[in-house]
Amino acid sequence: MGIGKLYQSIFRRKSVRSYETLPLEAAATEEITSFIPGLKPLYDIRTDISIVPGDSIRGIFAIKAPHYLVLSSENSEGYLENAGFILQQMDLALSSMGLGSCWVGFARPSRGIPVKEGMDFVIAMAFGKPMGSPHRESLSEFNRKPLDKIANVPEDPVLEAARFAPSSTNSQPWYFIRSGDMIHVFCRSLNRLTGKFYEKFNRIDIGIACCHIWLAGLHQGKNPVFMKDRKSAQAMPGYDYILTVSGI
Ligand SMILES: Cc1cc2nc3c(=O)[nH]c(=O)nc-3n(C[C@H](O)[C@H](O)[C@H](O)COP(=O)(O)O)c2cc1C
Repeated sequence: MGIGKLYQSIFRRKSVRSYETLPLEAAATEEITSFIPGLKPLYDIRTDISIVPGDSIRGIFAIKAPHYLVLSSENSEGYLENAGFILQQMDLALSSMGLGSCWVGFARPSRGIPVKEGMDFVIAMAFGKPMGSPHRESLSEFNRKPLDKIANVPEDPVLEAARFAPSSTNSQPWYFIRSGDMIHVFCRSLNRLTGKFYEKFNRIDIGIACCHIWLAGLHQGKNPVFMKDRKSAQAMPGYDYILTVSGI
């Protein structure tokens, strides 16, 4: 799917939690499958995305949907951000096709679905024909923090796209420092009690926001590059440094 369509989806998409039970037609799942090889990764980490039937996903909070995308990955540094970055492209593509989708944190494939050798299951995404619209009618329907609470600037078209990113429990754990043509990305630090529980999802959330930054940068004719550049980012109390986007 073209970058322009993915970018437009940022401002309309929403999580869909009610689906028609009938599976999609083969042509639709084939089209969705055809997007997978073209997804852009954040880092050079081996991943696999499979489409599985909804009834092969287990979990008390699992959403009843005809299909799920299941993302597995090699477990190396940055793999959670990478997973968020990659699978958000599918979330936006599905929305652009008029389909519904929803990230589902507390669900996993049942034993019958094998995970690729050398990879761990990371996260699943429900999708299918939505009951109702998969789109928001206006930006005011997004429940998000204002930009000046999540960034050091009050206005910025690229960061505005990041602001609309979905996150686990809508926690929006990100903070962005704009410095010239660079954006330093931070994630709220967790204490020992909440850490174990939220860290996985927060890192995926950061990857999702980076996907929106990447698309907004391309939309503006830029060539955003993602790298670790801890030295040029000043420390932010209460936040962990994640990465820097340059050329944006
Ligand atoms: C990593 C991740 C995990 C999520 N897990 C769940 C989930 O288990 N159940 C659910 O209903 N929604 C889940 N969501 C959806 C969020 O609640 C939703 O994105 C957020 O509230 C913002 O709403 P929106 O997506 O409609 O813009 C998850 C989102 C993310 C990014």
